[in-house]
Amino acid sequence: THVVCEPCFNCKYTDCVVVCPVECFYEGDQILYIHPEECIDCEACVPECPVEAIFHEDNVPEEWSGFVELNAEMAPQCEVITEKKTPLADQ
Ligand code: F3S
Repeated sequence: THVVCEPCFNCKYTDCVVVCPVECFYEGDQILYIHPEECIDCEACVPECPVEAIFHEDNVPEEWSGFVELNAEMAPQCEVITEKKTPLADQ
């Protein structure tokens, strides 16, 4: 699976969600999460994120390792997001 990490926090650019073929992004208040049981590792979202927040779980930087578990825990508790919206960073 891929994982949304710290750079998404208070950004939520949402460029990632529109390219996802399996609609595996879920929206938290300040960050998005990827559902690990739905992500197919297509990597389409990785180059779309302007702040490089998305990593394969095997390549998550050490300081953000906690985001692997956070995405897995939070995605099932949030609403799916499939359309781009105004980023927090631009508000
Ligand atoms: Fe977040 Fe980047 Fe998507 S900032 S909402 S992971 S495009």
